[in-house]
Amino acid sequence: MLKATGGEMTRMDTGATEKIQIIETPEGTFTIRLILDDLGDIYPGMVRYTVEVLRDTETVYTYTINTYESARQDTLFDTRKAAEVVFTRLVHDVAARPHRYTRPRVFTRPLPGTGAIDIVILQGSPRRFGNSAKIASWCDDEAARTGLTSRIFYLQEMDIRPCIGCYVCYNQGYCPIEDDMPPIIKALEGASVVVVCTPVYTGTVPATLKAVMDRCQWLHARENVLGKEVHARGLLVAVAGQQGTRPFACVTGVVGMFMENLGIRSAAPVLIGGLDRARDVEKMDGVEDGVRAALRALLAPQNEE
Ligand SMILES: Cc1cc2nc3c(=O)[nH]c(=O)nc-3n(C[C@H](O)[C@H](O)[C@H](O)COP(=O)(O)O)c2cc1C
Repeated sequence: MLKATGGEMTRMDTGATEKIQIIETPEGTFTIRLILDDLGDIYPGMVRYTVEVLRDTETVYTYTINTYESARQDTLFDTRKAAEVVFTRLVHDVAARPHRYTRPRVFTRPLPGTGAIDIVILQGSPRRFGNSAKIASWCDDEAARTGLTSRIFYLQEMDIRPCIGCYVCYNQGYCPIEDDMPPIIKALEGASVVVVCTPVYTGTVPATLKAVMDRCQWLHARENVLGKEVHARGLLVAVAGQQGTRPFACVTGVVGMFMENLGIRSAAPVLIGGLDRARDVEKMDGVEDGVRAALRALLAPQNEE
């Protein structure tokens, strides 16, 4: 169940208390709770356990684990057992060393506090001055002409690691991998329009763009766990060496699924074949106008529920 907290809808703090221990210490009264959240509506059978330590009413320590992190039930790594071990250890530790729990200890990294960007452009080609980069620059320019803010993320130049499928993001809405993803997540969360510019590489998208899309599972988690909804519209502009629609079959599926997963409402993609050399796209009649028109159509007010 989603719950309103501080003006925002969030999925945290809504679970059932499974265990509770109150400890009186010279540093104050501590409450240790083991909370169970059924996240089965996000993924089948997903259960999250949270162990939290409160000093009076302030949360000073939180440990979270979910069933998708552990390999099997009824083993040493069973999620519930792990949470219970943490609960027991915290009961002992708070009683023995309460001074260590007088200030909140936060282990999640906040996202960077940059201002919202209207149009976020994910440029997926490794070629800095290739066809996708040119298309990205047209979109960037079109945004400026419309009086909107935009940012091109040149993904190849960023430190992006692949998703490791740990499902830790479903605990508190944060990914534990330390790289350049946070500004992308922050930008996508606040964007009105998301444009993906990409070449076809061996039938699909280049590896770094695929890594970014996989890592956006983190955004899916933030939507479901923290209620941070993405309200963007999406546009795919893809280029390929071969002519016709065949080279784009996989790319449209992959990018379409990425957008669908995040609730981004995508427009009809712009697919441009017959391009091999960098900047060939500039020489094709009508392509620039077509890309700009597709973006402008997305910016126009639309009837949406
Ligand atoms: C590694 C690699 C794989 C490619 N695979 C395909 C492909 O499967 N089908 C296709 O039509 N073009 C393929 N291409 C051609 C590119 O899609 C094409 O050159 C495109 O214009 C490059 O865009 P860019 O300038 O934005 O990098 C491939 C190119 C490279 C470098």
